[in-house]
Amino acid sequence: MRETFNFNNNWIFENSEVCLPHSAVELPFNYFDENIYQKEFIYEKIIKSEASWDNKEVCLVFEAIMANAHVYLNDKKIVSHTDGYTPFIARLTDELEKGENILRVKIDGSENPSIPPFGGRIDYLTYAGIYRDVHLRVTSPIFIHNIKIETPNVLEEKKSLKVRVELLNPKALDLSGFLTANLLNSEGKILSTTKYEINENYIFFEINNLKNIKLWDIDNPSLYELDISVETPHGIDNINERFGFRSAEFNKNGFMLNGNSLKIRGLNRHQSYPYVGYALGKSAQHKDAEILKFDLRVNLVRTSHYPQSKHFLNRCDEIGLLVFEEIPGWQHLGDKNWQNKSIENVQNMIERDWNHPSIILWGVRINESPDNHDFYLKTNQVAHQLDSTRQTGGVRKFVEGEFLEDVYTMNDFILGEEELGGNRGRIPLRPQRECTGFNYDVPYIVTEFNGHMFPTKSYDNELRQNEHVLRHLEVLNAAYGDSNNAGAIGWCAFDYNTHKDFGSGDRICYHGVMDMFREPKFASYVYSSQDDAKNGIVLEPVTVWARGERNIQGVLPLIILTNCDYIEFLFNKNEEKFAVEPDFKNFPNLPHPPIIVNAEHFPENVFGTWGTDWQNVKIDGYTDGKLVKSKKFVADPVPTNLEIVPDLEEVSVGTDVRVIIRALDQVGNKMRYLYDTLSINVSGQVILFGPNSIPLVAGSAGFWIRSIGSGIIKISIKNVRFPQKEISIFAK
Ligand code: GAL
Repeated sequence: MRETFNFNNNWIFENSEVCLPHSAVELPFNYFDENIYQKEFIYEKIIKSEASWDNKEVCLVFEAIMANAHVYLNDKKIVSHTDGYTPFIARLTDELEKGENILRVKIDGSENPSIPPFGGRIDYLTYAGIYRDVHLRVTSPIFIHNIKIETPNVLEEKKSLKVRVELLNPKALDLSGFLTANLLNSEGKILSTTKYEINENYIFFEINNLKNIKLWDIDNPSLYELDISVETPHGIDNINERFGFRSAEFNKNGFMLNGNSLKIRGLNRHQSYPYVGYALGKSAQHKDAEILKFDLRVNLVRTSHYPQSKHFLNRCDEIGLLVFEEIPGWQHLGDKNWQNKSIENVQNMIERDWNHPSIILWGVRINESPDNHDFYLKTNQVAHQLDSTRQTGGVRKFVEGEFLEDVYTMNDFILGEEELGGNRGRIPLRPQRECTGFNYDVPYIVTEFNGHMFPTKSYDNELRQNEHVLRHLEVLNAAYGDSNNAGAIGWCAFDYNTHKDFGSGDRICYHGVMDMFREPKFASYVYSSQDDAKNGIVLEPVTVWARGERNIQGVLPLIILTNCDYIEFLFNKNEEKFAVEPDFKNFPNLPHPPIIVNAEHFPENVFGTWGTDWQNVKIDGYTDGKLVKSKKFVADPVPTNLEIVPDLEEVSVGTDVRVIIRALDQVGNKMRYLYDTLSINVSGQVILFGPNSIPLVAGSAGFWIRSIGSGIIKISIKNVRFPQKEISIFAK
């Protein structure tokens, strides 16, 4: 049977012991020189060979290295891999000596212009390091290399599977034996067992007449497993592959999941984090998917602009978050060799990820690159040959680009262009025909909007936050109202570090609806408030509730992002009440238009004027006539509680945990303008990523820790405005 060992620990890097995922250079939060990691690094590790590995295949599986990796065993080169986003294998069979062997991995973090995405300027950083997991895999000499599972007729009552198993037989041994396929449901119950005789590397089979199969969808992401074992005279190999039954199709009227139309409301995600760049592991990858699904409550994520961690994709499968996955690249096209690398990227991405039910579209064009007929004909062809079940997209921002894909995927940054002049006024999105240049409709989706058109920091003032919110609302409203548009994917979920040529000069693009720690800006509630109230009530007024924060004074117009039916304002110890309904007039297409409170909603100026008493308020949200949520603001906020919230309180060793700290006032609101320093002290078997003294920014701060041994991890936070506070996390 196959054995897989975690190979993340005890690496030697620059004379210290480190564990993976690892970033070669820990960066400051911002204002750094992005060239500091753009050089060569060496990682080393001792491998002790085991007698039980004799006559077996022994391989190292590198999930990703950034970039240009060369793997040596006892000074002999085993393999090289240039691409920084896809996995590769170092075959150690017949190379291992008895006892200790030295494994050396040389990497080069420089932006090698011969590999995508490099050669031009890119608006993100790629960091350097062995930033994903490594496993050691020991199998029988004939082993399963890959499995492809297709579910052809999911909308029929009796369902089928079409399976292709690829075996590798590097020693060209006699190949004969049996393959056994068990189909299991998510409770582990075997639904069918089939057995086939085998004598070739590729094995094709079908399983038909499957009854009572549950479809995978975003509300009920039912998963199944195909457990495949291959038995030859040389041993047994076994793989468990997860998949789902679902159909996904973009057509000229939008997007259909399992035959039902679904408007896509999505966000783009970069896989980067503060300080450690790409190098956070499974738990952090899972958490990002959960934040998108359960906090931002979007139904799709675009992996801009490269294949992301399989942990992230696995979690998307489990929780029902659709994915548009892309090859690495950004605007620049290199020469023929570069393009061939990109074609390889298409292949590597699809062959790694074709069984994820969450993935509904392959991005096979370098993001926002110019047309290139031959190259893009090829990327599309390769994608279709490898996977005939999914459509392709090719993200562009120029209008009337050549359309070689199945879905016209358009970055529409028209909103904000009115500031550049022209007489069109303010338009949230263009109709698809204006972008495609065709006089007929095609499958179409907006893959980016806003972003650099209106960068907004979490600590920007309330008027700017309002405008940020409005722009996201207007675009979503337009997308919801356009039956020729499958939906809209905003730029972007999280702020991200970038090159000096982009962003705010401090190496950050403040384009997220959340900050780099994944703390929400107001605009994040634009997304969550569109989700059904049954999944959770959202009631978020876009204000710090102060007399003098805005120009002139007051808080009007006050946007309240909510999925409630209406709200009531309660002033003066609840003696004065005013009800306000959603703004159906300006946002008729949104599932949940915002409630926008204006002076006309009040019989008189209840807020008073400059120089009069500013007062507390309570805002009650009602759904189906019932009070479902209240939000209070005090007129005199003072620091009252320092909240420390870890994402997990019990972890296994090797888990990355985000910790968020919030400075709260008497009614639990974040104190957005409290700029104090927090001192972090961690004890136990733990690594703290980033500095141990950090500022509160917009009322919160965050960091990640990694558990590196079992026992209690204690985290205590000191700050002059609050009593010292401590929390514990248990690692086992
Ligand atoms: C797009 C690009 C993104 C990001 C965004 C900022 O053109 O695809 O990666 O740079 O602009 O708004």
